Amino acid sequence: MSREKEVFDDIEGLVLKEARKTYSPRVIDHFLNPRNFGELKDPDCFNAMSGICGDTIGIYVGLDDSTVTRISFVTNGCGPTIACSSALTCMAKGLEIQEAMKITSNDLMEYLGGLPVEHTHCADLAVNTLRSALAKAG
Ligand code: FES
Repeated sequence: MSREKEVFDDIEGLVLKEARKTYSPRVIDHFLNPRNFGELKDPDCFNAMSGICGDTIGIYVGLDDSTVTRISFVTNGCGPTIACSSALTCMAKGLEIQEAMKITSNDLMEYLGGLPVEHTHCADLAVNTLRSALAKAG
């Protein structure tokens, strides 16, 4: 292993150790391994919204009748925003539009194992973006 790689791994380990004091394992997992990231080709609906901090999430949805069969996100936001967007796309996939619209930020935070209070607005932003995208369907 090169010295640079060793140093990088040490720093990564320290950052993760600190993150584990604040964030649940599921938040860290969705941040490090985001699901459904990137633009969706030929979406049926899309919307992007910015939160109180200025971070933006865009959510793309592909529908089969009224079921969410394809869904993805893009964001320029923080780690918790990435985790919220990723987890929300997993939660919404396979649901009818009306069911997906009912997912609340509390549902999302519960799924993620909680968020620090200064990042609860990341969950609000993800949920509001999904709802606004679905509102444009058909
Ligand atoms: S959306 Fe503002 S800090 Fe995550």
